Amino acid sequence: MGGLHSKNLAGMQDVSICAVCDIDEAAAKKLAAAHGAEPYTSLEKMLDEKKIDAVYICIPPYGHNGEFEKIASHKKHIFIEKPIHLHFCKAKKMIEAAEKNKIFSQVGYQYRFGSAVKELKKRIDNGSAGKPVLFTATYQCNSLHAPWWRDKNTCGSQILEQVIHTYDLAMYLFGSPEKISAYMSNICHTKDENYTIEDVSASIVKFKNGAIGSVGASNCAIPMRWDNLFTVVYENLTAQFLNANEAVFTNTAGRIAGEVINHKTEIDMYLDEDKYFIATLRGECENISTIKDGYDSLQFVDAVARSAESGGAPVSL
Ligand SMILES: NC(=O)c1ccc[n+]([C@@H]2O[C@H](COP(=O)([O-])OP(=O)(O)OC[C@H]3O[C@@H](n4cnc5c(N)ncnc54)[C@H](O)[C@@H]3O)[C@@H](O)[C@H]2O)c1
Repeated sequence: MGGLHSKNLAGMQDVSICAVCDIDEAAAKKLAAAHGAEPYTSLEKMLDEKKIDAVYICIPPYGHNGEFEKIASHKKHIFIEKPIHLHFCKAKKMIEAAEKNKIFSQVGYQYRFGSAVKELKKRIDNGSAGKPVLFTATYQCNSLHAPWWRDKNTCGSQILEQVIHTYDLAMYLFGSPEKISAYMSNICHTKDENYTIEDVSASIVKFKNGAIGSVGASNCAIPMRWDNLFTVVYENLTAQFLNANEAVFTNTAGRIAGEVINHKTEIDMYLDEDKYFIATLRGECENISTIKDGYDSLQFVDAVARSAESGGAPVSL
């Protein structure tokens, strides 16, 4: 993700990558060389030596150990990839640091920048969608990913590291969850070395606004595909998503199957979220998908995992 975001930023006017910090010196040198930037292995040294406006944090969940708070204390704005931390209980300090130092923060929830998701959000916010009713979703993939990803101690779970995108979308479109019941298991990877996370999970969610949701996920589906399929039912509108850029919108006001709109774009959601962050720093738009949102969706997936770890016992938020 450091490579992806830095390429997007390097392609923007008046934006330059001036430094790269990685505990792996070779990785820092490689990415820094690609952008004519300075390599570092010490974050403190980079913050003290370089003229920096903002920092992108693109380290694995287990790697977070006060970097966000340190960068915020240097009054630098922060883009941070999800999940913002491995341990929900340690993430609160990040919000406090952002507020105390009055910095802009944005979390890497690119699906919020999907053109079809934006279209739906507009209809929800202007009230034309009516009352929220049902969110159903599945997150499907089939890959061993990086070694840290398979290990419960460094990844947490597929729910925390990957399906958090879907739970964040549920919260973005339906508001805060109230109660959750979930199950998870490792069915197809019991013989894979050090594969200690689940490869299947499902949850039932009750939202504070009365709506209901269900999210299924697996790492046993189609190899080399990461599918985030979801359907949203509001009183006057049903939207069926193939991905965040592609959906069929059916108007259902008055319980009549009305106008059907097939929405499809190919926009690059990663590029759009990077452009949006830079525009936020320039005061051109409101700060969204903030560290507080990252904290709320981490709390959501933490509750899902806790319910699943206790065999489906309901967890209230
Ligand atoms: N938004 C998305 O769609 C998406 C996709 C993939 C990964 N991610 C997230 O991006 C983050 C990074 O994942 P990745 O795939 O780029 O991982 P990666 O393993 O490819 O790269 C992580 C890099 O961080 C370095 N690192 C680890 N701990 C560090 C620390 N404390 N300080 C400095 N450098 C450190 C490692 O040496 C490595 O070079 C993860 O949180 C992951 O969940 C998001």
